[in-house]
Amino acid sequence: MTAPLTVHFARTEFDPLIGAAGRVALMVGPDGKLGAVARRLDRATRGAIRRALEGKAWDKLKTGEALDLSYPSGLTAEAVQLVKLPRRATVAEARKAGAAIGRALGEAGAVVLAANHPRAADIAFGLTLRAYDFSLYHTADTPAKGPVTMLVDDPEAVADKAAPLTALAEGVCFTRDLVNEPANVLTTSDFADRLVAMREIGLEVEVLEEPALEKLGMRALLGVGQGSESPSKVVVMQWTGGKKGDAPFALVGKGVVFDTGGISIKPSAGMEEMTMDMGGAGVVAGVMRTLALRKSKANVVGLVGLVENMPDGRAQRPGDIVRSMKGDTIEVINTDAEGRLVLADVLWYAQERFKPTGMINLATLTGAIIVGLGHENAGVFSNDDTLCAAFLKAAAAEGEGAWRMPMGPAYDAMLKSRLADMKNSCGRPAGSITAAQFLRRFVRDEVPWCHLDIAGVALPPKETTLAPKGATGWGVMALDRLVRDMLEG
Ligand code: BES
Ligand code: MN
Ligand code: ZN
Repeated sequence: MTAPLTVHFARTEFDPLIGAAGRVALMVGPDGKLGAVARRLDRATRGAIRRALEGKAWDKLKTGEALDLSYPSGLTAEAVQLVKLPRRATVAEARKAGAAIGRALGEAGAVVLAANHPRAADIAFGLTLRAYDFSLYHTADTPAKGPVTMLVDDPEAVADKAAPLTALAEGVCFTRDLVNEPANVLTTSDFADRLVAMREIGLEVEVLEEPALEKLGMRALLGVGQGSESPSKVVVMQWTGGKKGDAPFALVGKGVVFDTGGISIKPSAGMEEMTMDMGGAGVVAGVMRTLALRKSKANVVGLVGLVENMPDGRAQRPGDIVRSMKGDTIEVINTDAEGRLVLADVLWYAQERFKPTGMINLATLTGAIIVGLGHENAGVFSNDDTLCAAFLKAAAAEGEGAWRMPMGPAYDAMLKSRLADMKNSCGRPAGSITAAQFLRRFVRDEVPWCHLDIAGVALPPKETTLAPKGATGWGVMALDRLVRDMLEG
């Protein structure tokens, strides 16, 4: 695991700025006013900072963006980075400002002057998330970034505020690592091992192996994995930070470690991206990690279905009919519509065993959600307006794009099969919605539920505000906040 960068907090002083190796970052309001320590730094550079703040380039910057003064005379630093951030910044603006620092950060590190900025902890959080770098497989040229010291007026108070955000950054980066890993490394067994290792931080973790899944009747899930050399598994992670005996909230993730499409094989162009088809399971794992690290006062259970979808002599065929744990039969029209088969059994198991107070599942479920929403928003499908609104609110507060999609009986009717209770695929029209309707058949009406289709946001084609190109960890922040707002009271 690539440990996220830690930001150290120290009292605001002039000396660390003047003697800094690497970079010096200053948070400056749009008015360009400098505090006492920044004024001394400006004098050391013989007014270079002031001149930069009077120029057009500074005027044009948006909140959270930054300007570089390279090799400033009078300082040992490589650059002074002027970051535009008002004192009354929102959480998202502060994180964006921190990300500007994290993005430019090199191995020589940085000293950040945040002085008495009220959002110092969020600046540090954004910095950490954007400094993330998955370079495990670059054998050369990958020195670690940092160290970073942030100068603040009250280091103890800021460190207290930053502690839960450090737990959150750990969770987000854990998810990113899982999603970035190639499928020859992150097999179903390796994935399960990494989850079992979280026993160390206080999670109760169980691994259900194929014989146990057979016994439970999870033929929908097992059918997907039967063409792979890697054994299918369901992993259950429990965090009991609330009252013992109180029913938990359930998070369920699609963990297809590689999706070739199976016998309905995908075209080869772009197939390498299907290493991210365990993204839903990755988010569930990241949230559970965060809840444990920050000792959340809620009861939450995370369940992931880990399988690999491969074509093989034993692989499932188009036309096969399987019986789910619930008892409903499914005609497998397309072996590439495998995520819903996995989730059907894990969703049902979660309800049978835990009687959860509510349930959210995450899955890189459909290409169609990318057609509809691009890489800006995840699709949100729900049977419960209250839970859905609470999730959308949490996602908006964390700056994670999410958009509610419709559901309804007319879409459900499209799942009708001549031979079985339903079919797993019904063509292109409303592809994301019919997938959601399929899942809904495995959710009891009285259980508030959301399905998050994260195919477009788990691994977007470009860098985002808080992540370099690659896995984003989308959803960990929103779900952590939802747990805080809804379950911790
Ligand atoms: N894992 C894919 C969906 C996906 C596509 C995720 C692109 C990320 C990026 C899923 O298993 C799949 O193959 N879905 C099919 C469903 C169809 C066969 C009904 C799809 O979207 O084409
Ligand atoms: Mn597929
Ligand atoms: Zn898939």
